[in-house]
Amino acid sequence: MHILITGGTGLIGRQLCKALLAEGHELTVLSRNPASVMAKCGTDVHAMATLGEWHAEHTFDAVINLAGEPIVDACWTAQRKQVLWDSRVTLTGELVSHIAAAASKPSVLLSGSAVGYYGNRGDVGLVEADDAGNDFAARLCQAWENAARGAEQAGVRVCLVRTGLVLSGDGGILGRMLLPFKLGLGARLGDGKQWMSWVHIDDYVAMLLGLLHDAQASGPYNMTAPQPVTNEEFTAELAKTLHRPALFTAPAALLKWAMGERASLLLEGQKVLPGKISAGGYRFRFPHLDEALRHLLRK
Ligand SMILES: NC(=O)c1ccc[n+]([C@@H]2O[C@H](COP(=O)([O-])OP(=O)(O)OC[C@H]3O[C@@H](n4cnc5c(N)ncnc54)[C@H](OP(=O)(O)O)[C@@H]3O)[C@@H](O)[C@H]2O)c1
Repeated sequence: MHILITGGTGLIGRQLCKALLAEGHELTVLSRNPASVMAKCGTDVHAMATLGEWHAEHTFDAVINLAGEPIVDACWTAQRKQVLWDSRVTLTGELVSHIAAAASKPSVLLSGSAVGYYGNRGDVGLVEADDAGNDFAARLCQAWENAARGAEQAGVRVCLVRTGLVLSGDGGILGRMLLPFKLGLGARLGDGKQWMSWVHIDDYVAMLLGLLHDAQASGPYNMTAPQPVTNEEFTAELAKTLHRPALFTAPAALLKWAMGERASLLLEGQKVLPGKISAGGYRFRFPHLDEALRHLLRK
């Protein structure tokens, strides 16, 4: 297949490109920095700087849409929220317009979303049929999903990947946590009761490949491990894996003061379960956090 990928240079995208190249696919990555694509994604990968380069006669068999400005990196000012929105919702709308206009349409669009779709939901176990939340992250995910669903009207199969916290040895959330934890400064966030619906990147990429190849797969998919944990449990498990203490608590009030509305990403959570993925028979390589952390931190 010839596959167009947005966000292919990112944490997930780079690993995905490796797996798709191993399956023998031809890849084109949309990037604001096309010169970096070969180094990040593979020497045989084509780069596209803007969707304007997608002319009607280009044929892509599948599109995977993972682009998005990092959500936790900067304060959620009105301007920043617009950037977060444009890099997901507006870009997805443009992508869908090109899909609809293509002479030969891709058979499938796998499009990003996040477990933040469900909002802050306490201890309730959430599957795909559950309602969306109403905070900024939840509204962003709903709009992102709705934009992607536009491709269904063009006859394209659409899967919406509600992504959990992706654990990788190459950065992301685990990369950010490592230094303080290695220094023995690991801390529970607030009361530590908020849920963290994590997933090992190897399982995440394997699930994406499954959705790509399964002609019956469509609609939303919770892309998380089957055993989510609370922040308190995550903190203790990471500290144990690194053989370091984690005796501190980052007070909720301090995080709110320092991060504003964005602190909700750390202090709130949702217990998300991979309902459709599990029902489809996928066998997780890393269902438990301790094994996932040991595997990722073994170097
Ligand atoms: N990693 C997680 O734990 C996690 C959890 C939930 C949801 N997600 C979502 O899954 C997607 C991929 O995650 P990731 O961790 O691989 O993200 P990442 O490492 O931050 O990469 C995101 C990619 O999006 C592109 N991008 C960033 N800002 C953009 C902008 N303003 N306009 C257009 N493109 C932009 C970048 O490509 P170029 O720089 O090449 O243009 C970048 O490679 C993201 O949408 C993210 O929100 C991730």
